[in-house]
Amino acid sequence: MFADLNHLSHHAAWRRQLEMLLESAGEGIYGIDLRGRCIFINGAGAELLGYTPDEIVGRNMHYLIHHSYADDRLMHVHDCRIFRAFSEGLGVRVDDEVLWRRDGSCFDAEYGSYPIRDGDQVVGAVVTFADISARKRIECELQLTQTLLERRVDERTARLRTAHESLRRLSAHLSTLREEERAHIARNIHDELGASFTALQLDLNWLRKQIAPDPALAAHVDRMLDVTQNAMGATRRILNDLRPSVLDHLGLWAALETLLQDLQTRTDMECRYVCAPDIERCRLGRSAEIAVYRIVQELLTNVQRHANATTVAIEVVLRDATLVLTVEDDGVGMQLPEQPHTFGILGMRERARAIGGVLALDSTPGAGARARLQLPIESGV
Ligand SMILES: Nc1ncnc2c1ncn2[C@@H]1O[C@H](COP(=O)(O)OP(=O)(O)OP(=O)(O)O)[C@@H](O)[C@H]1O
Ligand SMILES: [Mg+2]
Repeated sequence: MFADLNHLSHHAAWRRQLEMLLESAGEGIYGIDLRGRCIFINGAGAELLGYTPDEIVGRNMHYLIHHSYADDRLMHVHDCRIFRAFSEGLGVRVDDEVLWRRDGSCFDAEYGSYPIRDGDQVVGAVVTFADISARKRIECELQLTQTLLERRVDERTARLRTAHESLRRLSAHLSTLREEERAHIARNIHDELGASFTALQLDLNWLRKQIAPDPALAAHVDRMLDVTQNAMGATRRILNDLRPSVLDHLGLWAALETLLQDLQTRTDMECRYVCAPDIERCRLGRSAEIAVYRIVQELLTNVQRHANATTVAIEVVLRDATLVLTVEDDGVGMQLPEQPHTFGILGMRERARAIGGVLALDSTPGAGARARLQLPIESGV
């Protein structure tokens, strides 16, 4: 199996040991001289290539086992990385080429080539190689599985995104329907009850005048008038809640101030309202105004129900064509969940998104809460 090893070793015992070492290696190992001819090869290497060692020794290894790429294109000897490496006196490790067997088949190989030196002089190279087809096949299968997996994840993400978008549109649609339904009920209450209450009040006033001389009866009618008055007040409040007519009459910004004033009247909270003058001229469109109004209404309800605050402030400013509305309180604050799941917060977020805005909440326990609605304003404001 060894060709002329005299220039490597003169000692028979040393040569024997070297032979045993080569034969016990699992990898293929061969040596080449400067012209690329095989000077030795171990049994494992020859077997991998389908030869006996004697059939290989003396042959040019590039032309025997390394002549072509996997796709059958010829590999010029000057492109051979083993050849290039040892002619430069360097080592090289390659795992993306094939080696060819005697029967014309090839296998994915990993090989390393290291120069053999005699003093400063490179006199040849030792090449170690192994069949890595199984590893390559597994890598290929892994790559395929990963591609499949990625495609499935992409498809599922796309489906989720579509479902989410449909839900968002459904929610926006339901919100519009709800507002329309509320407006419808408000109109009916207004037309039916409003007219009846006014007629009742007129009649009671007339009756009151007729029975003025009888104090007992007059006191009775006075109480009826009070009840009617209260009922009219309650109806007006319900109407306003159903359909914030203040929006139609005063516009959004004054309507927000009214919400805050109502809160101040009902509680001891100090309420502040800051609305920049350029905002006061700004109209958002009916559905956006209702959405902003409902969001602020819910935020103030939350402050009243949960915050235990002493002050609450609303600030509206315009920044780079974006309306920024902040509602801030100095109450107990809260631990914000990563994903909100309560309907008040979810509803506000959805309403904001439906009109092209974003609602961000910021709070920590003990440090109050702040909600910021950002809404891009189209030109012409
Ligand atoms: N300004 C606030 N200060 C302190 N905690 C708040 C504030 N706003 C909301 N929270 C907390 O966040 C929770 C969720 O609010 P959200 O409006 O979603 O629900 P809710 O007010 O409890 O019920 P709903 O609005 O459906 O009637 C509240 O239960 C409360 O614990
Ligand atoms: Mg709430």
